Amino acid sequence: MSDVHDLFRRAADYAAQFHDTLDDRPVGPPASFDDLVQALGGPLADEEHGDADVISELIAAAEPGLVGSQTGRYFGFVFGSAMPAAVAADWVASAWDQNAFSVVTSPAAAAAEQVAAGWLAELLGLPDGGSCGFVTGAQGANTTALAAARQHVLARAGWDVGRDGLHGAPPIRVLAGVERHVTIDRSLRLLGLGTGALELVPANGQGRMRADALRDALAGGTGPVIVCAQAGNVNTGAVDPLNEIADACAAAGAWHHVDGAFGLWASASPRFRHLTVGCERADSWATDAHKWLNVPYDCGIVFCRHPQSHGDAMAVAASYLQRADGRSPSDWVPESSRRARGFAVWAALRSLGRNGVADLVDRCCDHARAFADLLGAEPGVEILNDVVLNQVLVRFDDDDETTREVVRRVQADGTCWLGGTDWQGRAAMRISVSSFRTTGTDVERSVGAILEAAAAVSGSLR
Ligand SMILES: Cc1ncc(COP(=O)(O)O)c(C=O)c1O
Repeated sequence: MSDVHDLFRRAADYAAQFHDTLDDRPVGPPASFDDLVQALGGPLADEEHGDADVISELIAAAEPGLVGSQTGRYFGFVFGSAMPAAVAADWVASAWDQNAFSVVTSPAAAAAEQVAAGWLAELLGLPDGGSCGFVTGAQGANTTALAAARQHVLARAGWDVGRDGLHGAPPIRVLAGVERHVTIDRSLRLLGLGTGALELVPANGQGRMRADALRDALAGGTGPVIVCAQAGNVNTGAVDPLNEIADACAAAGAWHHVDGAFGLWASASPRFRHLTVGCERADSWATDAHKWLNVPYDCGIVFCRHPQSHGDAMAVAASYLQRADGRSPSDWVPESSRRARGFAVWAALRSLGRNGVADLVDRCCDHARAFADLLGAEPGVEILNDVVLNQVLVRFDDDDETTREVVRRVQADGTCWLGGTDWQGRAAMRISVSSFRTTGTDVERSVGAILEAAAAVSGSLR
């Protein structure tokens, strides 16, 4: 057996064993960051080191610092796990080491992205004929989409932002809900529009942008305008009224962007797609595959109805960068050399099929509902949100300190992991069910651990 064969075999055996033992592994990392730096650290050696030893040392040093997002009882942030077929495809992508820049640099990577993009658009109910880029995450997708938007609305105002920049350009109004995701703000900073350009549209108690307020705000100004809607509030899961927002944008001639990092996946489920009705009318969309599709990090996807504006904002040309006929994957993303993310997405979709994706969405939402029902039935426990999707906000004894202490204790207990947040001025425990691995038993065990932690701190649960 060659050394390489042996090395890859060991890594694969380790990965398989890691997966087989997920249920017994801690969901929170046992080691501190400083311990890990020490374990991995020391001076860079002068001499070479054997590959097999390198991998063994890496595993031994890093494993105590792993977060259990591959387990079924990790409910922090909006983290998906990674499905076996997608993980294996991602390894193969690494072994192939393809550069997904263009059809010339890797016809296979470009073809996988194109096919996966078509399947994704169909699943998410997006229109044909648009452009699609594979980026690092919804942050990258929002930035790319808003760059296309900036290009488009300024071109309509007679300004070429690609050539002339923003100095002297007609000001762009950017309207977004008060409960937009923070990545929108970062995108605006990166794009030179600045967060000062934001006009915040009020939202209801669930964080849904109010379409009537948007209509009023649009009527109160003129000039190039971009509206950032959201499918899936990161706390409540609420989806903005996309159809009404589309009406308002059409009437005002505004670019309509949808940040659907996870919520856009509701469209893939016959049970939940009523939430995203109207999303197909937008001009651009951002979503993630590393969240609800459960592909390994990292993978976000940007879709755009206007390939010309998208390409004008992103594409590059140089004499040495030979092109095949037609568009190149690099026309839709801000990077040049790039990981071939399409293989893992292709594998996830091929493995799940249309029904499997719908089932994944449904199961996560049903588990979220079960969390809300089981916890909400206890005295002193309040569910703060309408559980429309996979997000649940829980508050204990209607008290900030109690709620934060329950979160701390649950994290320390290690049965499950979830985070805390503040929802409209009140502390809350935040549960996001985004893993294909979560089972009813995981939910029951986690509810037990949460109630035990709550009983230890809360007067009414004692
Ligand atoms: C609505 C929304 N937009 C954007 C993001 C950022 O996604 P990413 O971390 O993949 O860039 C998130 C992350 O949770 C999100 O919920």
